[in-house]
Amino acid sequence: MTSTAGFPHGVRIAGTGSAVPERVLTNADLASMMDTSDEWIRQRTGIAERRICTPGKESAYTLQRDSLERALEDAGMKGSDLDLIIVASVSSEMTCPSNACRIGAALGAAPAGAFDLVAACSGFVYAMNLADSLIRSGRHKAIGVVGCDAMSTIVDYNERSVSILFGDAAGAAIQVRDDNPDKGCIYQVIQSDGENWPSLFLPRKKEDIPPNSPEIDIELGKLRMEGRDVYRFAVSKFKEVIQDALNSTGLTADDIAQFICHQSNIRIIESAKEKLGLPDEKVYVNIDRYGNSSAGSVGLCFDQIRRAGKLEEGDTVVFVAFGGGLTWASSVWNL
Ligand code: UT7
Repeated sequence: MTSTAGFPHGVRIAGTGSAVPERVLTNADLASMMDTSDEWIRQRTGIAERRICTPGKESAYTLQRDSLERALEDAGMKGSDLDLIIVASVSSEMTCPSNACRIGAALGAAPAGAFDLVAACSGFVYAMNLADSLIRSGRHKAIGVVGCDAMSTIVDYNERSVSILFGDAAGAAIQVRDDNPDKGCIYQVIQSDGENWPSLFLPRKKEDIPPNSPEIDIELGKLRMEGRDVYRFAVSKFKEVIQDALNSTGLTADDIAQFICHQSNIRIIESAKEKLGLPDEKVYVNIDRYGNSSAGSVGLCFDQIRRAGKLEEGDTVVFVAFGGGLTWASSVWNL
């Protein structure tokens, strides 16, 4: 979908927030738990450490709530100012109620609408794009968007090719109606292709596992990933969606203040940067410190970039993410 033409309203990002658990899990910690090494993990992924929840103290719910609370504070708003909350996550504690409902109650947002959205690592960008469209339609005025995953609760720490990649984090943004229709999302894509879903999935019961799935001894309720297949998909999709966003808006990399990208693997990010000729200072990277936090990563990056003073009103940014489903999403925003 292109352009803001015909919409009477624009959308302003009024505030952002993020939350990560206190506990740092280093590569050395992982090497003491499984057959891996700091060198292998750094070389193959660019990750040095990640944050993981301490059970009983932190969870997907607390990270989601805290990130949204910080975004509201940043915006100078209260929960009761929101008319909708969207939480993108594959690791919310329950499917009913949604974590969005529980967070809404905790932050005094009732009777705001609330739902969780499942689009794996693409979730935050899916939710940001959806919220922009809802505000532009005139039906909503203020939406809290949260992207979060507590991956430590759904990875099997006996499975070294999956567990080393992931960490826990949440990022949130408050979108509000603005009189300037050129402000907000000027181009967006939310897409999927379910054909290759078995390359990344979370089986709840035996019947969820496709018959031709490789025999991996992973517990039910834990993530399964064919890393190489997802890697190949991600490398080509990452470049394709950025190129499409630029071509469709007539912008060049020079016009973009920041490319805010899913932190999947440093080699995937470097490959896109190299193929598209994007300068280092325009592609924020924090995977070395936080790992891949699935739906949390883009929101965490956005909040860190804003709080570091790297963005100004009037800047144009590009969001990009891809992941399980398989799903992918991008958007171009005038801040
Ligand atoms: O967020 C969106 C969803 N996910 C992604 O974007 C992830 C995309 N995929 C990846 O990032 C990479 O595929 C991984 C980091 C997960 C794995 O890296 P890789 O370079 O694709 O490794 P591999 O799975 O092809 O394994 C290569 C070798 C194997 O040994 P052999 O068969 O060559 O002897 C593995 O057994 O490395 C071995 N290996 C490890 N060795 C030490 C796999 N995991 C580890 C490990 N430590 N943690």
